[in-house]
Amino acid sequence: MATPVLGIIGTGMVGAGVARRATDAGLDVVLSNSRGPDTLTGLVSALGGRARAATPAETARAADVVLAAVPLSAHELLPRAELAGKTVIDPTNYVPTSHWRSPELDSNELTSSELVQRHLADAHVVKALHNVGPRQLLDLHRPAGAADRTALPVHADDPAAKAVVSELFDVLGFDAVDLGPLAGSWRSEPNTPLYAFPYVGEPPAGLAVPELVAWVQNAPGVPVSAAQVTELAEAAVRGPAGFRY
Ligand SMILES: NC(=O)c1ccc[n+]([C@@H]2O[C@H](COP(=O)([O-])OP(=O)(O)OC[C@H]3O[C@@H](n4cnc5c(N)ncnc54)[C@H](OP(=O)(O)O)[C@@H]3O)[C@@H](O)[C@H]2O)c1
Repeated sequence: MATPVLGIIGTGMVGAGVARRATDAGLDVVLSNSRGPDTLTGLVSALGGRARAATPAETARAADVVLAAVPLSAHELLPRAELAGKTVIDPTNYVPTSHWRSPELDSNELTSSELVQRHLADAHVVKALHNVGPRQLLDLHRPAGAADRTALPVHADDPAAKAVVSELFDVLGFDAVDLGPLAGSWRSEPNTPLYAFPYVGEPPAGLAVPELVAWVQNAPGVPVSAAQVTELAEAAVRGPAGFRY
């Protein structure tokens, strides 16, 4: 595939971090958020000439691959018609709150990415970039073949979409490990051995949850091999869904 245009809907920590890595790697990116392109002038100018701002619908139309880096609670606002036929990377994690929770996730009937796929019925959803933070992505990219290149899990129902994302990861400086369909994506979600901590190492003992989150978000990256990804995914045991740290 020719170098893809990467669309990014949601330009918070994850969207902005991936945009930085992507433009540094030579990709063109189209960015959007909930408040409109005028609010993205600072980010666009910081990223340089490969970035431009748009609405979410324009982002979907312009891009070959779209990262939907929005809170899971907002997934039904993603532009379904414009995303039809596109490969959509879903990095969301389920954080149940008093404002939003999903009975189908609470009962483990669906995974969070199956929920996103249900809304984006005509898109090809790939669960990825959910178990590693933007700080670590910016640390850990390496050229193909480097001994300490980091591997990231991908889950999808469509093998072609998985291949597209694997090629994109290669451009971004990462290997991809195919962990099967979206129904199994709980294996790399929060509360499993593959979630976040392999990429940052052991946190200091005794941190309260907000401190632990801040520590993980700011920790330097630790390389994780493809063999480790496979091994950690196989060790996962399914418990209640949702962020529980
Ligand atoms: N932070 C992490 O370390 C991390 C790591 C892995 C995965 N994740 C997951 O990745 C997703 C994004 O996380 P984040 O930390 O980047 O969140 P964040 O900093 O809160 O940013 C969320 C972004 O989503 C945008 N947004 C919300 N509703 C939208 C809509 N309807 N249309 C378009 N854009 C919309 C927001 O727009 P505005 O800017 O206009 O408000 C904002 O740019 C979440 O699902 C999270 O669980 C996070």
